[in-house]
Amino acid sequence: MASSFPFELKRLEKALEEPLQKRFLGYTQGLVQVQPSGFVMPSQYAKFADKYYNFSFKPDDVVIMTHPKCGTTWLQEIIWTMRNNVNIDTDLALDVRSPFIEFDSLEAPHLEPIMPLVNAFNERNPGKNYKEEGMHLDLTVRTTSPRTIKTHLPFAYLNPNLLDTCKVVYCARNPKDACVSYYHHQRLVRCSEFIGDFAEFVDYWCKDLITQGPFWFHVSEGWAKRQHPNVLFLFYEDMKEDIMRELRRLNEFLVTSLTEAQLQTVANHVKFSNMKSSPSSNPTQAAIKVGRFVKGEEEFIRKGESGGWPSYFTPEVESKFQMWMDKWTHVAKEIPFRYKL
Ligand code: PPS
Repeated sequence: MASSFPFELKRLEKALEEPLQKRFLGYTQGLVQVQPSGFVMPSQYAKFADKYYNFSFKPDDVVIMTHPKCGTTWLQEIIWTMRNNVNIDTDLALDVRSPFIEFDSLEAPHLEPIMPLVNAFNERNPGKNYKEEGMHLDLTVRTTSPRTIKTHLPFAYLNPNLLDTCKVVYCARNPKDACVSYYHHQRLVRCSEFIGDFAEFVDYWCKDLITQGPFWFHVSEGWAKRQHPNVLFLFYEDMKEDIMRELRRLNEFLVTSLTEAQLQTVANHVKFSNMKSSPSSNPTQAAIKVGRFVKGEEEFIRKGESGGWPSYFTPEVESKFQMWMDKWTHVAKEIPFRYKL
């Protein structure tokens, strides 16, 4: 039986929301916060929160869970490839192979929808409205098993039986590199369309007002579950340091039984340069053409570095960021992030 989303959803107060909407042009519908965590989402989330909370996972699903910009796309390509006979020749977009369950909540209603998804939704759901039901949710439901599902939702907002049902790969990245990466992302995608500079972005980040955060709330939930037999907790920095080592861990966790040679093929397939040049994993040019990404910004698959943050962190930014780290020190001190490889 479906249960209601057990947390309070509150519209962000006007004094915070209005200035924010002037700097993030994509948030035309306003923002909501889940209480008590303070998790921020575009207001469309209110329509879908119950649906995600009741989503029926299947035993052979693998869920990739991350705070944004912490290695999701890399892992989607890795895990999908490992679970699909090391198929490196598909042209199918990664977003379709590995659906993003809550993307309907992030979608800005003023943008042109992705028509192939709308058409597929309409065919399967005659008479229903994709904006109400969720076409990405529908894509997730209809994806052929074994499904490799992407989410930026933390554990608390998904079905409480998630870990009794299937496996979750949680990936974390040090907050300084994640913040730089998210800054570029939020400038690039029209769903958020941030128009300020990095110092201003950090201001919002340190007030925990950036969507799909607070960062520490998200990561600490994943970290707390890292010993669960159905959870594999990874760090982006570890993947950068030694991808074969992390692929072997995944191979064991997912019971994919790939040989060393097959893992080597996967490692080569997901090299940064290969993923950047593939329209399947890096849809930047196509998305600019249809007006979903802003032209002139850095690409969706951007630099792929660990430790690039110092060129963005002025002394002022550094001190603000440190105050934010101090505020969250009760959880931050637990997690052994590496800021430089
Ligand atoms: S998203 O939009 O939240 O799903 O973004 P996410 O995929 O989690 O993170 C994007 C960052 O990951 C980098 N990336 C990679 N790094 C190394 N190797 C590979 N193959 C790879 N693919 C993506 C991507 O470039 C983003 O980091 P930055 O620092 O912005 O370059």
